[in-house]
Amino acid sequence: MDQPGAVDSLLQEDRVFRPLPGLVMEANVNPQELAAAYQQAAHDPEAFWETAALELEWFKRWGKVLDESQAPFCKWFTGAKCNIVHNALDRHIKTGNKHRLALIWEGEPGDIRKFTYFELYRAVNRLAGALRSLGVAKGDRVVIYMPSLPETVIAMLACAKIGAVHCMVFAGFTGRALKDRLRDARPKCLITADGFYRNGRVVALKAALDEALHDDRDAVDVCVVVRRANLEVEMNPDRDVWYDDIVRHEKPEAHTEVMDSEDPLFLLYTSGTTGSPRGIVHSHGGYMVGVHHTLTWVFDIKPTDIVWCTADPGWITGHSYVVYAPLLAGTTTLLYEGHPLYPQADRMWHITAKHGVSVLYTTPTTVRMLMRYGSQFPRQHDLASLRLLGSVGEPFNPEAWVWFYQTIGRGECPVMDTWWQTETGQIMLAPMPVGLLKPGSVSKPLPGIEADVVDRAGNPVPPHKGGLLVIRRPWPGMMRNVWNDPAAFRAYFEKIPGVYLAGDVARRDEDGYFWMQGRADEVINIAGHRLGTAELESALVSHRSVAEAAVIGVPDKIKGEIAKAFVTLRDGFEESEELGKELKDHMRRELGPVAELKSVKFRADLPKTKSGKILRRLLKAEELGTDPGDVSMLDEE
Ligand code: WTA
Repeated sequence: MDQPGAVDSLLQEDRVFRPLPGLVMEANVNPQELAAAYQQAAHDPEAFWETAALELEWFKRWGKVLDESQAPFCKWFTGAKCNIVHNALDRHIKTGNKHRLALIWEGEPGDIRKFTYFELYRAVNRLAGALRSLGVAKGDRVVIYMPSLPETVIAMLACAKIGAVHCMVFAGFTGRALKDRLRDARPKCLITADGFYRNGRVVALKAALDEALHDDRDAVDVCVVVRRANLEVEMNPDRDVWYDDIVRHEKPEAHTEVMDSEDPLFLLYTSGTTGSPRGIVHSHGGYMVGVHHTLTWVFDIKPTDIVWCTADPGWITGHSYVVYAPLLAGTTTLLYEGHPLYPQADRMWHITAKHGVSVLYTTPTTVRMLMRYGSQFPRQHDLASLRLLGSVGEPFNPEAWVWFYQTIGRGECPVMDTWWQTETGQIMLAPMPVGLLKPGSVSKPLPGIEADVVDRAGNPVPPHKGGLLVIRRPWPGMMRNVWNDPAAFRAYFEKIPGVYLAGDVARRDEDGYFWMQGRADEVINIAGHRLGTAELESALVSHRSVAEAAVIGVPDKIKGEIAKAFVTLRDGFEESEELGKELKDHMRRELGPVAELKSVKFRADLPKTKSGKILRRLLKAEELGTDPGDVSMLDEE
């Protein structure tokens, strides 16, 4: 039976890894509890999420756990009153967490700042008071155009504390992208920094902002400037104020606004690898439950952990797992300002060893980049503090997964390959630390998440066949809307009626494990075989010479499309015609004759988005000489 939109699968990955007995014995959720949770959540998902919600404090309890009457606009914990910052900070001040480290920050030049919960609480209160004095009120938007600084975390929390809606704009975006976001979000206030350190350079952020806004003086009324790099900046007396000046006389106590569970917490623009940016809206109540539950379960958080999620706070991963979830859980979160290769390729291992990082959550792009330099750099450092590893953002090629597991994790730290999106707010599919791991698989939907793989008509596809990943039931951390564009929000639920369409291709194996195969709009159709980019690329990465690979389909008279590969090589390998031929043979051997490559192009780098995803669309445009479209998300670093 040929199903519309089904995707073929070629890659066979048989390696499995089991957690060490010690880890299983000490896990927050042991295998029996996990099995029971799966059962309970399948039987009564609302009761499952209600239990998760009861781990946090609420000013007033909910009437209903889930209200689907206006679906797809769902409401969670209706009628409840809360504030995420009450749970992330205020409540810890009354417990033994008060003097525990909340935040460790390391600047690129090596400067370090540490905040206990008490210190972070007081810093947030001061800024909350200052923002109120500047006229920022509940419901107002505040754009935070900041690099990875403690003040970035403080700004996010201060906004949430007073009920303002924060909207982070990644500091690597240029004027145009910033302007578009300002125009859409219409903030009352903008928070930025004079500059920051990146890859040995000082980036003049405030100057970039001034340039972007020079012809649009009304874009914002107030701009708060954090001093980081001691740069000379032009202060516009009608608009700009120094952060230090506005917080200096504020009290270290501030009232935490009582929010409705459904009140917006933040909007965050996502453009991914395609399309124009959409302001994804998340709420206080459901988001708080979703990220707290998933961090504590998937990363098995213990009181002694130091969690390093390497994402920039400007991305959803940074929002959920650098800032909110670790603080909700009362653990210590680590934030690093700079480039992972500065001043050399061991910076991440240096930081891990120095601060005793126990949970390291990063991306396949970062792992492949580090793998390129071999194991000599990690070997120079004592990485024994690591307990758990994690990944998000792209399909994790089995070869890179195994390198991460063995070289960084000593073959002892389970790798949690987590699938989720800006739109989902929280981790959706992931292994649990006590479960069986298959390199390259995101394992299964977490308890309470009902995912499926379907064809274009919405019918489930059988095991080993790829199809569209959909989510069948609402979940607490789900986006609530798209800012100024409810039709765009509805579109996620209307293409296949009644389910959330993620836009990714996945397949399931006989054990129900999910394998992500790339974006649905990047599927390559070779002589009627529809192939996801992930498998083709993973097969290339499994060759000892290849660091990274991107595969695109180019038109072919006979086959419809044919695959073309772009690769970067590991240290110690040189590009040559023979190597190109060897890679073609390797592909055929690994995946069969369908996976014939038209050609292999060696490159020094692959084009990526600023959040590290390979931009195949750009390679394709380059190849076909077509218009690349919007390239504002391209990372030029
Ligand atoms: C991709 C990041 C494979 C996917 C939290 C998704 C993944 C998009 C994985 C969302 C994974 C994320 N395996 N692909 N474990 N995690 N993706 O919005 O294509 O920046 O749709 O959110 O990243 O990216 P976003």
